[in-house]
Order: sequence, then C-alpha cells, then structure tokens
Amino acid sequence: MSASPTKLETLAIHGGKPVRGKLLPYGRQSLDDADVQAVVEVLKSDWLTTGPKIGEFEERFAAWVGARHAVSFSSGTAALHGAAFAAGLGPGDEAITTPLTFCATANCILYQGATPVFADVSPDTLNLDPGEVSRKLSPRTKAIIAVDYAGHPAALDELGQLAKAQGQGALLIEDACHALGAEYKGKRAGSIADMTVFSFHPVKHLTTGEGGMVATNDARLAETLRRFRNHGISSEARQRQESGQWFYEMVLLGFNYRLTDIACALGLSQLERLAANLARRREIAAQYAEAFRDLAAGDLPAIVLPAVRDGIDPAWHLYPVRLKLERLAVGRGEIFRALRAENIGVNVHYIPVHQHPYYREHFKSKCKEGYPVAEDAYERLISLPMFHAMTGQDVEDAVQAVRKVVGHYSR
Ligand SMILES: Cc1ncc(COP(=O)(O)O)c(C=O)c1O
Repeated sequence: MSASPTKLETLAIHGGKPVRGKLLPYGRQSLDDADVQAVVEVLKSDWLTTGPKIGEFEERFAAWVGARHAVSFSSGTAALHGAAFAAGLGPGDEAITTPLTFCATANCILYQGATPVFADVSPDTLNLDPGEVSRKLSPRTKAIIAVDYAGHPAALDELGQLAKAQGQGALLIEDACHALGAEYKGKRAGSIADMTVFSFHPVKHLTTGEGGMVATNDARLAETLRRFRNHGISSEARQRQESGQWFYEMVLLGFNYRLTDIACALGLSQLERLAANLARRREIAAQYAEAFRDLAAGDLPAIVLPAVRDGIDPAWHLYPVRLKLERLAVGRGEIFRALRAENIGVNVHYIPVHQHPYYREHFKSKCKEGYPVAEDAYERLISLPMFHAMTGQDVEDAVQAVRKVVGHYSR
C-alpha cells in the first residue's frame, strides 16, 4: 500500500489517468435493511413525533455514552443552542471557544445574545489550548465551549477546572459533534463535561438524517433542555394525551427543536452498529498512519499526521493531515485540486470562524489579536476520506492518490 511516491506518473489534473474512476466522498452515511425496517414501522404507527421512540432513543444513547440523561434535538446546532441556553448565557456574558470549528459552535453563543471570545488551539491536537483559555477568562465568562476536533477529545480536565474556578462557576460544554464514542482517560465523551453535544448528520458516526443530542449528568440541566426544545412548555403532548389532560404551561421561551420518532427509530437502529462503525474508523486511521509513516517522518516531512495524546482513543470523524508547505512546490489549493482530479473527495476543516465575513464585520476589534496556531493550521489542513463504510480499496485509493500528488510536488 505504501509504495514510494513517484514523480513519473502524470497527475490527473495534468491529463493523466485518475487513481479511481468515481469520486470517493470524504464522508457518507451507511444504512442497512434493519434501519429501513425500523423507520417503516414508525411510519405505520400512531406517533410520528412526540411518541415513544424519543425516550427510548434518549435512554439507550445516555447508557451508551455513560451519561445519566440525554435530550434529543432536531440537529447538533439546535442541541448547541439548547446547551447555551441551559448554561444561562445571555447578553453581557462571554463564552470562550475555539476558532477552528464549524461556525455553529460559536453561533450558539450569538443566539443567546452573549459574546463569543476565541482562544487559540494547541499545535498538536488543534483543540482549545487551556493556557490560551485562561488568558481569556473574565468575570463575564459563563461557559467554555470546547470542540473535540476531528474526534480527539479536548483537554477536558484542564478546561473543566478553569470553568469551575470562575467566580460564579462557569460550565464546560463539550461540542462532541465529531467525537461520538471517543474516549478520554477511559471515559466516553458524554460522561465528562457539564453538557456534551452530539450531531447525527449523515457524515457522523450515527445518523438520523438531521439530529442532535445533549448528554448531561445534571437532572436540572436535562429538564431545562427538554423544555427548551419544546417551546418552553412544561409537559409533552403524549403525556397529556395519556393522562387525559389538556392543561399545559409555557414557562420559558423555547423553540420547536424536537427530533421526530421517525428519526429516533433510525437512531436506535444505527446505535446497534455504532461500536462496529467506530472500530472500522479506528482501523482506517491506523492504516493511514502506517501508509504515510515515511511521508510524515524525518527532518523534512511532507505531511503532519493527526496527533493522538496519551490516554485518548479518538473517534476519527475526520482524518485531517497538515501539509508541510515548506517541502512542497505548491500551496494547499493546488494539492486539493490535484486530489479531487484523482477522484479523492478531500475537504478542508475549517475556515477559522473569526475569518468568516459575518464575524469579521461584527467582531472586528475583538479579532485583531489573531489566532496564529489556528490560522497557520487552516492554510495547511486537508481532510482525507474517512467514513466507516470505506472499503479496503477506498483506503488504498486515497493513500495512492496522496502519495502520487504529494510525491509529484515534493521538493
Ligand atoms: C463541530 C461541530 N459542531 C456543530 C455542528 C452542527 O451539527 P449539525 O449539522 O447537526 O447541526 C457540526 C456539524 O457538522 C460540527 O462539525
């Protein structure tokens, strides 16, 4: 699999034969007949939404991640909004988060009228750097929102201590949208932070189409999250129907962020294969690491592979490599296009949030300082295909294409 890079082979972008005939996406779902059957059963049942599958999915999910409670939402973004609300974020408050994430992580702070404060990331994991976070703490800090970038848990112990040490006690929210199944010092993501947020988008480890979850050990936070996702109403339609009552009260300003029974049935069925999906992703990560060992080694490596810290078992939502641009004759854009021409669906995660036009416009003065580690990483990052349904041939094709393209442009 790891034949030495050859400069003789003409790249597809220069008219040569692509490594494969059909595009290999960077991520995609996999569904089986049991999933389809589970959904069909709900479609034939009495409850398409607010029915029994919701509680069932939440309970099984909570048990799987090792949390006392899990509250489902219509997306990971809605779940983040719920967590920001439950953390009590409001105008005048600040929440510290990473710039190297999908914009939804920071947007949930804005939804609550609070102020996002970015802190730079650690050079190895590209997760929030606790030293940088401690520099950004202020009496207004009400939450730290850490992202488990690519599926590698953030420095949860250090960040949790920083949150607790805040005057009134801030909460640690873990955005584990990449990290379902990841382990941190022997514990699963979902059982550690005050609230942990997951996404069930099709490129994730488990899908419900769109969907999300907040896991927490705190019963009061769970209650607030349940109300928030249901208009702020104190009871649910099925409870009222079953108890023969019509009366309900709206006790806080919530949203309709409910996940349907159709989606929860799919989630329950997918949960059965989650352990196998994770194992496959870990196997692919190990194959990539082995196949690229020489490219990433020596005094002048061409690429930097994702780091794994001691005590961590990542969930490998992504496999982001960083290009050593000093060793390459072209920039990330050319490498990206050349890999696409080989029919390898690479991607880039992420444009730092503060560089998006909306954030540049609204937070100009706050972003002046810059985030050198995140910004430098962004110039070099390229995510290789990573999903549990990848075949051995898919992995080989991705490896061959990277070696072909990087070999061609190495100097
Ligand atoms: C880190 C992170 N946070 C939040 C989200 C939002 O999740 P969703 O797409 O389910 O709304 C994503 C989506 O990919 C993500 O990668």
